[in-house]
Amino acid sequence: ATILVLHGPNLNLLGSREPGIYGTDTLEGINQKLIAQAQSAGHQLSCFQSNAEYQLIDQIHEAAQQGVDFLIINPAAFTHTSIALRDAILGVKLPFIEVHLSNVHSRESFRHHSYFSDIAVGVICGLGASGYDYALQAAIKHLEQSSS
Ligand code: DQA
Repeated sequence: ATILVLHGPNLNLLGSREPGIYGTDTLEGINQKLIAQAQSAGHQLSCFQSNAEYQLIDQIHEAAQQGVDFLIINPAAFTHTSIALRDAILGVKLPFIEVHLSNVHSRESFRHHSYFSDIAVGVICGLGASGYDYALQAAIKHLEQSSS
């Protein structure tokens, strides 16, 4: 199967961005690990980061056209603001897992609401970069179950 990992705004700064909250792993390091893990499980995985909402939306539309089976997405600050990104995912009917490095529920109240959680297969937050590994494991399980 083919899995797409989407990272929203400011996640290109991972490693140096508020390390007390987001950890010290870089985005490149996270991506490389996910690609290797997917490959060893016999799946294909690609990653895309953007600071621009429309680029993430375009990527979701393209993913559907290209036959991507599953999304793992950290919409970052767009989590709390973007009806457009929510509508893009609903529009292409791609199943997805929402990931956040930090525990958004223990932070400012404006981070408590997500435009994605109610339509996600699942949500992982507060477990740092490992959250992406858990999301990938869950995505693979989901795909294997839905194809059998
Ligand atoms: C985040 C949490 C968001 O509230 C924040 O805007 C981010 C990152 C996380 O991974 O913890 O940019 O999605």
